[in-house]
Amino acid sequence: MSVTTPQRPRLTILGTGYLGATHAISMAELGYEVMGFDVDEAKIAKLADGQVPFHEPGLDEMLRRNLATGRLTFSTDYAEVAAFGDVHFICVGTPQKQGSLAADMRYVESAVLGLAPHLTRRSLVVGKSTVPVGTAEWVEQLLQDHVAPGIEVEVAWNPEFLREGFAVEDTLRPDRLVFGVKSDWAREMLDITYKGVFELASSEDREVPVVVTDFATAELVKVSANSYLATKISFINAMAEVCDAAGADVTQLARAIGYDVRIGNKFLRAGVGFGGGCLPKDIRAFQARAQELGVGDALTFLSEVDKINTRRREHVLELTREFAEGQLDGAKVTVLGATFKPNSDDVRDSPALAVARMLHDENAVVSVYDPEGTDNARRELPDVQYAVSISDAVAGADVVLVLTEWEEFRHADPVVLAKLVSHANVVDGRNCLDAARWRAAGWNYRGLGRP
Ligand code: UGA
Repeated sequence: MSVTTPQRPRLTILGTGYLGATHAISMAELGYEVMGFDVDEAKIAKLADGQVPFHEPGLDEMLRRNLATGRLTFSTDYAEVAAFGDVHFICVGTPQKQGSLAADMRYVESAVLGLAPHLTRRSLVVGKSTVPVGTAEWVEQLLQDHVAPGIEVEVAWNPEFLREGFAVEDTLRPDRLVFGVKSDWAREMLDITYKGVFELASSEDREVPVVVTDFATAELVKVSANSYLATKISFINAMAEVCDAAGADVTQLARAIGYDVRIGNKFLRAGVGFGGGCLPKDIRAFQARAQELGVGDALTFLSEVDKINTRRREHVLELTREFAEGQLDGAKVTVLGATFKPNSDDVRDSPALAVARMLHDENAVVSVYDPEGTDNARRELPDVQYAVSISDAVAGADVVLVLTEWEEFRHADPVVLAKLVSHANVVDGRNCLDAARWRAAGWNYRGLGRP
C-alpha cells in the first residue's frame, strides 16, 4: 500500500437522498467517520436532528446511534466536506430529464463543481449515482479543470444495488461490490473503504465478491442489472396478458418456470408492474444513451418492456371499469396502496398512484389508503381523497383495488371488509390476496393473469 493511503479513510457522502443517507449511516455504523452533505438545508437539519427524511426500516435508530457516537456528522458546506474527507461519494439523484428519456446530470455536475475547488489533498471521488456510461470520464475531466494545480484527485465508479425496504441490509451485506478504477491507488482506497463490509462478511463466514473493472463497465453494470430486472418483470406481465386471453394462471406458470434454476423464481410476480425512482427512469436513460452511442437497436426491447409495464396500469383501469358496469364516472373506487412497493414511502412513478390518477381523470370518486405513503402521495396527487385506515377507505366502495402488496392488505379480513363496501368487487393488482378466501367471503375477485 502506498504511503499516501490512509489506514482508515474519512468518508463524505454528497447527496443525502435515499442512497446517500443510507450509505452515510451504514458506513458510520461500520465504524467510519462520515460526513453527509446536501444542498437541501432542511434535509440536513433533519438528519442532524436524528430524523431520516424517508421511510426505511431500521434506519432511524441507526442514525441516532451513530450521531451519538460523534462519528456521523452533516454539513451543507463544500469547504467543510473537502477538508474532512479522503473519499468523497457522489450519491446525488439522476432523475429523468423533462421531455426526454435521458438522465438529468445537473446534480452530479454541481456536486463535482461544488467540491472540486475546495480539495486540498490527495483524495478519491467515487461515483455511486446511476449514470449514463461515459460519466466517470466526464467527472474526471471536470475535476482536472477545477481542482487546484498540484492536488491529485482520482475518480472511481462504484455502483450501488440497494433495494428500498432492504437498504441497510443491502449496504452492510452487499451481494457484490463493483469497483470501476484506473489505478492501483484507487483500488486500494476502495479496499480500505470497504474493509468494514469485508470484515463483517468474514465474521459471518461469507465472502463479498469484488468485480474490478474499467469505468465504462462499472457504469454499465448498474443500468444493465436494472434493465434485466425490469425485463424480467415485464416478461411475466406479458405472460399474464397471454394467460388472461387463454384462461391460464400466471401465478402457477411463474412458480413452475421459476423452479428452473436458470430462470429462478425472483422478480416473477405479475401484477400492475414496476415503478419507483430507479427501474423506469433507468431503462429510459439507457435507451437514450445507447442511441447516442449509435447502438439504439440493441436496446429497442427496453421500449417494449416499458410499454408492457404501462399497459398493466391501463389493464387495471379496464378491469375497474368492467366492475363499475362500464361507468367510471361517479363510481366509488378505493385504491389500497400508493407507494411503488411495500415498506417504503416512495411514490415516484408508482403504479398505484398512476392508476388512482387515471381513475380520477375519468371522474371516479377515488379514496386512497397507504400505511406510509400518504404524505408523499398527497403532494403528487392532491385531488383525490386520502383515508386513514382500510375500513375508512373501503366504506361505500363500488370497487376495491389492491395495488401495493402491504402486509396489512394481504392479511385484511375479507369478511369484515365485505360488510363495509357497497359492492364487493376487488381487483388484486399484485396477485397478493388469497383468492379463494375473498371469493368465499362473497367478493367478485379479479387477479391479473388469473382466471
Ligand atoms: C431497484 C433494484 O431492485 C435495485 O437492485 C437497485 O439498486 C435499485 O432499483 C436502484 O437502482 O437504486 P427498488 O427500486 O428499490 O430497487 O425496487 P425493486 O424491489 O426492484 O422493485 C421495483 C418495482 O418492481 C416495484 O414497483 C415492485 O413492485 C415491482 N416488482 C418487483 C414487480 O412488479 N414484480 C416483481 O416480481 C418484483
